Amino acid sequence: MRLKDCHNFHDFRRLARRRLPGPIFNYIDGAADDEITYRRNTEAFERCDLVPNILRGVDKVDLSVTVMGQKLTMPVYCSPTALQRLFHHEGERAVAAAAGTFGTMFGVSSLGTVSLEEARKISSSPQVYQFYFHKDRGLNRKMMSRARNAGIEVMMLTVDSITGGNRERDKRTGFAIPFRLNLAGMAQFAVKPIWAINYLRHESFKLPQLDTHVDMGAGVMSISRYFTEMLDPSMTWDDVAEMVRYWNGQFCLKGVMSVDDARRAVEIGCTGIVLSNHGGRQLDGSRSGFDQLAEIVDAVGDRIDVMVDGGVQRGTHVLKALSLGAKAVGLGRYYLFPLAAAGQAGVERALELMRVEIERDMRLMGCSSVAELTRGNLRFR
Ligand code: LAC
Repeated sequence: MRLKDCHNFHDFRRLARRRLPGPIFNYIDGAADDEITYRRNTEAFERCDLVPNILRGVDKVDLSVTVMGQKLTMPVYCSPTALQRLFHHEGERAVAAAAGTFGTMFGVSSLGTVSLEEARKISSSPQVYQFYFHKDRGLNRKMMSRARNAGIEVMMLTVDSITGGNRERDKRTGFAIPFRLNLAGMAQFAVKPIWAINYLRHESFKLPQLDTHVDMGAGVMSISRYFTEMLDPSMTWDDVAEMVRYWNGQFCLKGVMSVDDARRAVEIGCTGIVLSNHGGRQLDGSRSGFDQLAEIVDAVGDRIDVMVDGGVQRGTHVLKALSLGAKAVGLGRYYLFPLAAAGQAGVERALELMRVEIERDMRLMGCSSVAELTRGNLRFR
């Protein structure tokens, strides 16, 4: 199976699975507890149907949207995700470059493996900085100043990861950072030699956003230990309000799920919220962002940009979210499997397939701009 044989999410996932050491594939693919929310995220889109209109003159279709002051040439963006150089040696460089090619927003994580400054130089597209609130308040302010100096357009604070989710696949495989050459690790290197050679041939594993604060020499750290030891579970709305003032620019909360919280985000001056359950990786049994979308857009959609992510695998999923009032839709695993499968070429193929699907589906819906997608185009069963 080759990149050109990948036509959808499932094909990319299959190719990624073939190329990646088991623990790394399962880190991306896995979620919390019984992975119910992970599955539900995609299923949620199947509970409603698109109702197309005909004969509307759709020779030209404009996919562009403006979200948090950023103009995107298509209504999907690459949501920030951690540890990308572990998935493919090009890592964040590939995602930044691909997002630049497609004129859409991308994120670099606090747990990114390429510096936010380097990513900023690679891409001319709007860049999000995914931020975790650390116990060390000085570190938080330092990271924000650094992001400002780098020219980052949007600050995105993850608010659903106050403690590590129960990722049982990672427990079973012993997944930890940096990926360790223990016995199990060596066995994986042997069965995935191409991945292993690339991993060893390129610069050693780093977390440049955190390098002075997480000591990689001091041993391996599991993701859940990082959350538990470094992040501050006492974070409150007042703390975030202070961050919003300090940043003084586009500021968005990722992981809002309730109407009350959406209202508070508006009150403290956020310019965006992402309805998200972290790809089902945190609180299993929580509702999908898509299922919460309508009521949150009704409550705050005129005062703040509402985005959604989770389980998006198809252009039609994006159309459904836009019809309910999302300003843009985040992709995670949708571009990570292609990254793992083929680096930049993989991410570009995935974004191209998504662009083509959205454009085709908008034509079939009788819509020549995103603004024409409304709730009139959607029926719940
Ligand atoms: C995860 C974090 C790192 O879901 O975002 O693994």
